[in-house]
Amino acid sequence: MRIDVVSIFPDLIADAVRYGIVHRAVENDLVNIAVHNLRDYCHDRHCQVDDTPYGGGPGMVMKPEPFFEAVRSLRADSTDPGHVILLSPQGQVLNQQRARELTQHGRLILLCARYEGIDERVREALADQELSIGDYVLSGAEFAALVVMDAVIRLLAGALGNEDSTAQESHTEGLLEYPQYTRPAVYEGMAVPDLLVRGHHEEIRRWRRQQALKRTLQRRPDLLSSAELTDEDWEILGEL
Ligand SMILES: C[S@@+](CC[C@H](N)C(=O)[O-])C[C@H]1O[C@@H](n2cnc3c(N)ncnc32)[C@H](O)[C@@H]1O
Repeated sequence: MRIDVVSIFPDLIADAVRYGIVHRAVENDLVNIAVHNLRDYCHDRHCQVDDTPYGGGPGMVMKPEPFFEAVRSLRADSTDPGHVILLSPQGQVLNQQRARELTQHGRLILLCARYEGIDERVREALADQELSIGDYVLSGAEFAALVVMDAVIRLLAGALGNEDSTAQESHTEGLLEYPQYTRPAVYEGMAVPDLLVRGHHEEIRRWRRQQALKRTLQRRPDLLSSAELTDEDWEILGEL
């Protein structure tokens, strides 16, 4: 996969992708990340990327021309036009399913705005998708872009050491993950559940499923309506 990010703060993105699983995915050629300075696509003397809003009002609005020019220029260097994502608090909210869908694209182009937002024509004519990372407003899209990138990249085949990690974690099957423990077996009087220490596989599998269902029921009951539940799950939920 190739990911292009367009921003007025390219270093913010370039620095952040130098860590952890994203970095390893870059090193292993699973993803190629290119960060582009929006100011490279403006032509006036001051490289102005924002202007006052038509109709008045507070703040500045990002101009359309640099974004259009950036995307045209990026498209010129590849046969894959890419899936253009505009980060916006008004977009579809990112979730695990949407992150998984994004892994199907060979190329993502992420557009980062700041100030009061972006000229509507970018949204209408350039963006294939508008994505939000949650119902709150950030001062700029760079952290949102990094969240999208991290969520997508870790789902690429080979990005994690163990593919089972994504198969069992929260939100994969619409449930929250069961509680996890590691050594020591007892810490300051708090013991790891006996059953996990005993190591009987079938008991552990059922306990984990039960805990995942219980946790989801207690914390995020809204998830259960779209989770893939088996007959055994319904039985466990009945007991809960
Ligand atoms: C201060 S915000 C502008 C908010 C805009 N005035 C509005 O009410 O929708 C500046 C930029 O940060 C990004 N941004 C802010 N919150 C976001 C969120 N929850 N998810 C994704 N991007 C966000 C968007 O690119 C947005 O245009």
